[in-house]
Amino acid sequence: TWTMVNIVDEQLERIRAQVGDKRAICALSGGVDSAVAGALMQRAIGDRLTCVFVDHGLLRKGEAEQVEKDFVAATGARLKVVDAQERFLGALAGVTDPEEKRKIIGREFIRVFEQAAREVVAESGEADTEVEFLVQGTLYPDVVESGGGTGAANIKSHHNVGGLPDDLQFSLVEPLRELFKDEVRRVGEELGLPPELVWRQPFPGPGLGIRIIGEVTRERLDILREADAIAREELSRAGLDRDIWQCPVVLLADVRSVGVQGDGRTYGHPVVLRPVSSEDAMTADWSRLPYDVLATISNRITNEVREVNRVALDVTSKPPGTIEWE
Ligand code: XMP
Repeated sequence: TWTMVNIVDEQLERIRAQVGDKRAICALSGGVDSAVAGALMQRAIGDRLTCVFVDHGLLRKGEAEQVEKDFVAATGARLKVVDAQERFLGALAGVTDPEEKRKIIGREFIRVFEQAAREVVAESGEADTEVEFLVQGTLYPDVVESGGGTGAANIKSHHNVGGLPDDLQFSLVEPLRELFKDEVRRVGEELGLPPELVWRQPFPGPGLGIRIIGEVTRERLDILREADAIAREELSRAGLDRDIWQCPVVLLADVRSVGVQGDGRTYGHPVVLRPVSSEDAMTADWSRLPYDVLATISNRITNEVREVNRVALDVTSKPPGTIEWE
């Protein structure tokens, strides 16, 4: 529609005005917001943008592959993939506090971006160039909920707004800062991003790290990644992707309960399904998913993920519950 074209044109103009002839790097998370921010930037400044995708080990199954294939194919953007799993998991060892996790993840992200920026400069072959800008896919609701908007309390320091270190060496470009998610999706379509990317469930920057209640370890991440992939696959199969906002799967890693799987007693972990419906994530209601879909998800998770012997359903709206458990 002409209004979308206007929004896109206006954003392109603003980006060009802010960035001038300097270089920028864009942090891709695998989610919709950063993909749309990256696509906008690519259109605005072309190869002076390098997208950086950090594999911090907290990703969903298939995420890295999707960014490497679909995003690059749709935008032609220059992409750098950094394997930083050891670094992030090392920094998160022993940490259980949600805000502490966010701070650590935000800090490690920035360190990785700084390194990536140095590499971009080295690879450019230009002596006097530098990367001045860091692009973030911050949306209006993120700004409000991190206390950056009009008078809201700091509910969670969404790391792409609140959790950045004080000694940040980049200026921020946040081309989506005034938009809501539905507008972002329409901008994404306008820019030619594929539907699988545009209609993905929102995924937080700190990834599965804030969906493990307790310490984040490689083994726990593997368990959660499998359970999450099953839930997403079944929701897609049932055609529910556009009806629900997102459905976090949460691993209660320090809780155990007795079960019987195969022909033996088990003492495994519960996962919680958190399907929500929402317009903008600022408020949400729990989604009334069909029982047969819930049954299939539950059966498959407990059959296919050995360490999980119980699946629970979160029936809390936001407020009082937030969407993510941490
Ligand atoms: P909450 O849990 O605050 O989530 O109701 C609202 C929306 O924000 C996402 N979320 C995050 N996104 N960094 C992000 O980039 C974060 O730290 C973060 N925490 C929550 C969440 O998935 C939901 O869509």
